[in-house]
Amino acid sequence: RKRVAILISGSGSNMVKLVESMADSGHPGEAVLVLANKAEAGGLTKAEALGVPVAVVAHKGKTREEFEAEVSAVLEAAEVDIVCLAGFMRVLSAAFVREWQGRILNIHPSLLPLFKGLDTHQRALDAGMAVHGATVHQVTADLDAGPILGQAVMPVHEDDTAETLAARLLPLEHRLYPEVLARFAAGSRGRVALFA
Ligand code: GAR
Repeated sequence: RKRVAILISGSGSNMVKLVESMADSGHPGEAVLVLANKAEAGGLTKAEALGVPVAVVAHKGKTREEFEAEVSAVLEAAEVDIVCLAGFMRVLSAAFVREWQGRILNIHPSLLPLFKGLDTHQRALDAGMAVHGATVHQVTADLDAGPILGQAVMPVHEDDTAETLAARLLPLEHRLYPEVLARFAAGSRGRVALFA
């Protein structure tokens, strides 16, 4: 089984769904580590409760190079094969991405290539989108621009706000990411498409 690490910065709800999906021994992946860049990340206690080893590599007070070297060392020590970014809010350098080339996935709360970066829900509203969604993609040196592995789509309602969009999208993310990871870990190609 592929050894999977999940990197988080916050509440870690996607991380929980990924870990739960890998609890099945027939799954091609195994959750071996949850790593956060801040000790306060709410997802850490959830990971501990699920029995997954956790690590904190704080980014504060370090250069990007120092931070990433520490993250890499922790991932290497855990013999990680696949890195899933799940609400991990640090941009990774080209050097880090090269080191983990082809082995990093990310979930982004928009229908890429639209709305790379932050504030995706408000930007989808401002653009007058009739649909919104989430994308799981491979991470490359260009932010939110690597090959798309799967997308989930839902309608935008007249009275939606950034908050209601985010809340309605999250359960779709929770279906999308485990499905994409299972296919990726098994080495299958092709993209996942989910509809609300
Ligand atoms: C998710 O909506 C994810 O798509 C988004 O952060 C949230 C994390 O929630 N990711 C990004 O914005 C990446 N730039 P979670 O911690 O509950 O999984």
